Amino acid sequence: MSDNKVYLITGATSGIGKAAVLSLARQGTSIVMVSRNKEKGESVRAAIAENTRNEIIHLAVADLSSQQDIRKLASDIKSQYSKLDILVNNAGGIFDKKEIRSSRISYDRDVAKRLWESSAQMTELESH
Ligand SMILES: NC(=O)c1ccc[n+]([C@@H]2O[C@H](COP(=O)([O-])OP(=O)(O)OC[C@H]3O[C@@H](n4cnc5c(N)ncnc54)[C@H](OP(=O)(O)O)[C@@H]3O)[C@@H](O)[C@H]2O)c1
Repeated sequence: MSDNKVYLITGATSGIGKAAVLSLARQGTSIVMVSRNKEKGESVRAAIAENTRNEIIHLAVADLSSQQDIRKLASDIKSQYSKLDILVNNAGGIFDKKEIRSSRISYDRDVAKRLWESSAQMTELESH
């Protein structure tokens, strides 16, 4: 059953974020999915909406590595929703332990980027 809350979930197109959207959608919750890829985001949104018969799942497009996109996202959310109850900042994980998973990106750069993204998102969305 819906709790009448509005959730905003980043990283909503795969993995943990997508699973969270699916789980909340089954409860009839109002969800704003954030995706950096409009086509992929809309495809996931439509599939979950059909699967769960939840028509109050919406898509917002933003690349969270872009300050400009973050500001536009915050502005759009403020103008389109009367309230935002819960931010699931899933696309901005921070870890306290060094972990090397591949050679394609350095850990330090990854953490710095995630800290910067999370901080920027929180500042923008907390003012909502
Ligand atoms: N899975 C684990 O075991 C685990 C463990 C500890 C922590 N975490 C953390 O939990 C979070 C989710 O993990 P996951 O395994 O579910 O990840 P995932 O399957 O790789 O999904 C990551 C999601 O974030 C989105 N994303 C990435 N960069 C973005 C950007 N710049 N702007 C907007 N969206 C962006 C991706 O969008 P696209 O679809 O466009 O790529 C995707 O939807 C991550 O922060 C991860 O570090 C995961």
